[in-house]
Amino acid sequence: MSDAPRLIAAAREAARHAHAPYSRFAVGAAVLLTDGSVVTGANFENASYGLSLCAETVAIATVSAQGRLREVVAVGVIGGAMDAEGRARGDQPVRPCGRCRQVLNEAAQMGGRDLAVHCAGAEGDAVASYRLSELLPDAFGPGDLGIS
Ligand code: THU
Repeated sequence: MSDAPRLIAAAREAARHAHAPYSRFAVGAAVLLTDGSVVTGANFENASYGLSLCAETVAIATVSAQGRLREVVAVGVIGGAMDAEGRARGDQPVRPCGRCRQVLNEAAQMGGRDLAVHCAGAEGDAVASYRLSELLPDAFGPGDLGIS
């Protein structure tokens, strides 16, 4: 069975903790590891706007800080504009931005896996699933620097 439903549910839960007072767009990410455990992240904005971190980057950095970068198998990403109560809304799937695709690629190449990337909205059943190699073809990565 696909890991998508579980990862999307975890990403939606994570998005509740988005710190996004500037864009009011909440994003959650859930990273699946080889042992079945899931590590989550949410976007973390900053009053100095350009310093803001995306949900996927927060999640992958957390995985790395746990020494588990090579164990990443798949990721779920959700996002949506926040309503007046701060809850993410909308059923349009949100795909990782370009920078996050590159960050995900670090985990993919270090682990020797083409990651599954499951994308959904904050609500609803629509899911768009990809391989990272589709979202970031011919990627630059650790191998280009002689690191495997
Ligand atoms: N954002 C993410 O967290 N991940 C993405 O892949 C796209 C964008 C965040 C950044 C910012 O906090 C908000 O969404 C609006 O751009």
